[in-house]
Amino acid sequence: MKLIVRKNDEQIADEVSDLVLSLVKKNPSCILGLATGSTPIPTYKDIIRKAKEEKISFKDVRSFNLDEYLNNKDFTQSYRYFMNSNLFDHIDMDKDNTHFPPESDFAHYDDEIEKAGGVDLQILGIGRDGHIGFNEPGTAFDSKTHVAALKETTIKDNSRFFKDISLVPTSAVTMGLGTIMKSKKIILIATGKNKAEAIKATFGKISIDCPASILQNHPDTLIYCDEEAASLLK
Ligand code: GLP
Repeated sequence: MKLIVRKNDEQIADEVSDLVLSLVKKNPSCILGLATGSTPIPTYKDIIRKAKEEKISFKDVRSFNLDEYLNNKDFTQSYRYFMNSNLFDHIDMDKDNTHFPPESDFAHYDDEIEKAGGVDLQILGIGRDGHIGFNEPGTAFDSKTHVAALKETTIKDNSRFFKDISLVPTSAVTMGLGTIMKSKKIILIATGKNKAEAIKATFGKISIDCPASILQNHPDTLIYCDEEAASLLK
């Protein structure tokens, strides 16, 4: 696990978008693992801009998203909607090539990823409690795609996107930690002071109390932090 500290999220987005685009240039039918949340938005913006400028096509790229809410009443709050509006609608991605965890038959998602050849590059954000995807503290390190109950802190954090906290879904389907660990390369992005504790724990003892700490056992993971997110690391 390699730590890369940059001044701000703009610099991180510039570098991570370059890494994504160079993979797409090298392997036009590569498989991307994608994340939602506010953290990857600058990176998606840079991917859109540079793909246009450099005429890089995503038409054969395939993607598997990390997670999706369950029992969500509002499509505009779904992660499918988020990905369409923040990335897919602005590049020539074929929506048939974009996948989200199913509402049932969850383990099938792992099979689908495997059959496609495995995720070449997985983008991750991180929750304040160290969760990745929706793998909250306590999740087994070898877990596959499963239903996860959201912790109170996560529901509170995610409520900023909803009109009212009561509208935040309380469960989601998420790739498991075992699913994520099978990705060939992983880039986790953390920005802002409120991620500093989670990043400190990510580099601490490997423990189910901090799900992201399992990434220490992954052979090719980059942790991109801005100065604030890295501020508690020695
Ligand atoms: C949600 C998502 C995670 C994301 C996290 C942090 O819980 N399921 O994939 O990493 O939020 O979100 P943000 O980037 O908005 O801080």
